[in-house]
Amino acid sequence: MLTTSLKILNEHYQTLNNEGQDVIQGLTRTPKSLPPKYFYDDRGSELFEQICELPEYYPTRTEASILRQYADEIAQITGVCELVELGSGSSTKTLFLLDAYERLASYCRYIPIDVSRGIVQSSVLKLQQKYPAFFIEGLIGTYEQALAKLESTFASSRMIFFLGSSLGNFNPQECNIFLRKIAKTLQPGDYFLLGIDLQKPKEILEPAYNDSQGVTAAFNLNMLSHLNWRFQGNFDLHLFTHQAIYNQADAQIEMYLHCQKSHQVSLEALGLEVFFADGESILTEISRKFDLANMQKQLEAHGLKTLKIWTDPKQWFGLILCQA
Ligand code: TRP
Repeated sequence: MLTTSLKILNEHYQTLNNEGQDVIQGLTRTPKSLPPKYFYDDRGSELFEQICELPEYYPTRTEASILRQYADEIAQITGVCELVELGSGSSTKTLFLLDAYERLASYCRYIPIDVSRGIVQSSVLKLQQKYPAFFIEGLIGTYEQALAKLESTFASSRMIFFLGSSLGNFNPQECNIFLRKIAKTLQPGDYFLLGIDLQKPKEILEPAYNDSQGVTAAFNLNMLSHLNWRFQGNFDLHLFTHQAIYNQADAQIEMYLHCQKSHQVSLEALGLEVFFADGESILTEISRKFDLANMQKQLEAHGLKTLKIWTDPKQWFGLILCQA
């Protein structure tokens, strides 16, 4: 009988005083916003897996094709090392990397980290069956909690990877803070593998976040259900609609929940009452679209040297391997 190896980094989250402060801050600010991590309760993670399979959502497939083609090369460059994935979700694309490391050396350590307990639990169980010789340990927690934990654990060589262009979900300032933390967590010689979505015409970008089956809309609205159960809220999902637009000037997709009728919402566990005006929007996510040369400079500024960049034939997505 296999048991999953899981560590929960935020088991006592509900009792921590600062839990939900980010929700209060976001909803009392003008314009209103919510932190994207609240997308990923178990239902949200399931919906996100569906987004990854949508015909309009090209990033997952494109990144997977790059990984499929170059995973062996990546493994050869880094050699055997501890593999740490931030925001691992179902770890589907990761199989290309794990296969490559299995070919390189039969033993490997893989640490998937995600905020969503259900998805980490089920993927760790599947991976342990597929790679019985690997040491696999899932961690449940935020990026901050994960990086703090990694800083305190030793690995003789480590690669942190951050795929799916999740870096694009940070604004420039948050992005800077995040890269600084990554650079601080890595030891000299360790690796960082980053997957980023690249700039392209609006006609391709907007449908990727506005699919015809409405899965992205359901995903966006699910954040309100998550807040309802987590903070005893009374958001009425029927009063909001999903909106995604490409802001060309800032090269970012902006995802909103657009309020259809003025009303009051309360989140009891946070002691919060919020007024929504008719036509008011909550910004739930940005997804920045990058330029490889600029990203390389930014990584370099944090002491992360680019070893190699891979992309697809259309140059829609980029994968950068760097070293601390
Ligand atoms: N990292 C993904 C991206 O920026 C996240 C994402 C994809 C997403 N589709 C979404 C977030 C829809 C919110 C809504 O592409």
